[in-house]
Amino acid sequence: MTDVKTYRSYRGLPTLAGLASIEDAAKPGLSVEACVARLKRYHYAFMRLHEIFTARITAEPIYELKTAFAHHAYLCAEHVAALRQRIGEMREPPLGLEEVPHEALAIFFDEILAAPTTAALLLGLYEKALPALDAALQRHMLDTNPLTDAPSNRVLRFARLELGDMIDFGRRAIECLVADKAFADHREWLAHLNGLLAQSGAIDGAARALIGEKPGRRFSATAYVYDRVPNRDERFQDVWNQGVNAESFLYNPELPAKPKTLMMLYKRLREIDVPEMMASIIAETKGKTWDYYRDMSRQLWDEARHAMMGEVGFVALGVDWTKARITVNWSHRLNTECTPIERHAVLYFIEQGLMTKTGKRYEWEVGVESGIPLIATIQDYDWADEVLHAQLGRLWYIPVIGEWKKALEYGDQCWSRILSNWQAVKDQGLTQHANWWPDIYVQACQAWGEKPDAAALAFSETYEGARADLKGVTGSA
Ligand SMILES: [Fe+2]
Ligand SMILES: [Fe+2]
Repeated sequence: MTDVKTYRSYRGLPTLAGLASIEDAAKPGLSVEACVARLKRYHYAFMRLHEIFTARITAEPIYELKTAFAHHAYLCAEHVAALRQRIGEMREPPLGLEEVPHEALAIFFDEILAAPTTAALLLGLYEKALPALDAALQRHMLDTNPLTDAPSNRVLRFARLELGDMIDFGRRAIECLVADKAFADHREWLAHLNGLLAQSGAIDGAARALIGEKPGRRFSATAYVYDRVPNRDERFQDVWNQGVNAESFLYNPELPAKPKTLMMLYKRLREIDVPEMMASIIAETKGKTWDYYRDMSRQLWDEARHAMMGEVGFVALGVDWTKARITVNWSHRLNTECTPIERHAVLYFIEQGLMTKTGKRYEWEVGVESGIPLIATIQDYDWADEVLHAQLGRLWYIPVIGEWKKALEYGDQCWSRILSNWQAVKDQGLTQHANWWPDIYVQACQAWGEKPDAAALAFSETYEGARADLKGVTGSA
């Protein structure tokens, strides 16, 4: 007679398609009902995390955190989608997914969303929320039957892989940014977060919920309000400067390809304004299907990557990018002067423009012609991403307005309503529109060991009088 310990597979082959040992699979594990109850709570946690990461992109000044939040928001959006699909497979109509599983858990995430400083936000997210979620997924994989619930385990395994990366980033960010004093100042609040988790029976609800006093609020005592005004860290100087018309340089057939790569890198890095703006659309557009938020978050993350491609390119070419003026004009104006659908309309209008002959293909061709392989790589993928974004616009923007032509016209209208503020920001003393271009170009020429091209060096065209539309102030997206 054999039992789970002595049973042997054919010639000692791995058992159960490599999932588990017979012994592990012979333990009953979670019921479908218990499993779904937990999955719904992971789903809720990832949804709230997506909300928090997205909402905090715009006003967060530190560029490395902005881009990381863009990344982590996107990863959370993907895990929400995967969990929704899995829950829908388990005799559960995809209902009840928007329900709040426990009041204390809701307050736990409200508290982090409302964290008043970057330090508190980082501690709440990366010291509390993400590790608590990861612990819940780990426990699920131990508690559930590895054979009967293999599809859930697969989803959770992928999620844990990325949760681990996020926690790792966050802990390193805390080491760099959060002083011991700030840590100490938040000790009571962090203990409060632990208390909320205990009250809700942990993220998964599997621990026994602490019953007793009503869960209390600290930072979220006054309801959080999304801050749509973009901020930048101190490396971003003179952020209203419109003194160098990058598009005019880039599309001038008389000018050589090599300096044009610098203008393209500038345009890429300037795209940090797109996540700042898209975060506002996502944060202020409620009640869409999850696919909308997932796709928008994917695009937002792509735009953050485009900015980072610019950063990488400048560093690789030996150029100090902080000497260029990475403006905040576009996201600031769209976020403060337009409604969410108007912002989406402008984004779509601009991205349609990138699909033309003078758009992304041209930028890639300039990259190839420059003889700098990294620039060709950057523009190649930037182009591919933009084709995807044009598709996402067709999916999520056009149907809101009606048909394509109307939707495009609406974007044009919204954008041309924003008149050039070239003179206004100058009159307000916000900028002198100084010409930063020669400094950047000379730096690159020194690194290349080349003499600057006279015509390229002399370039001094500004955005003054340029129409505040695709032909003028933009280049973003
Ligand atoms: Fe884009
Ligand atoms: Fe882009």
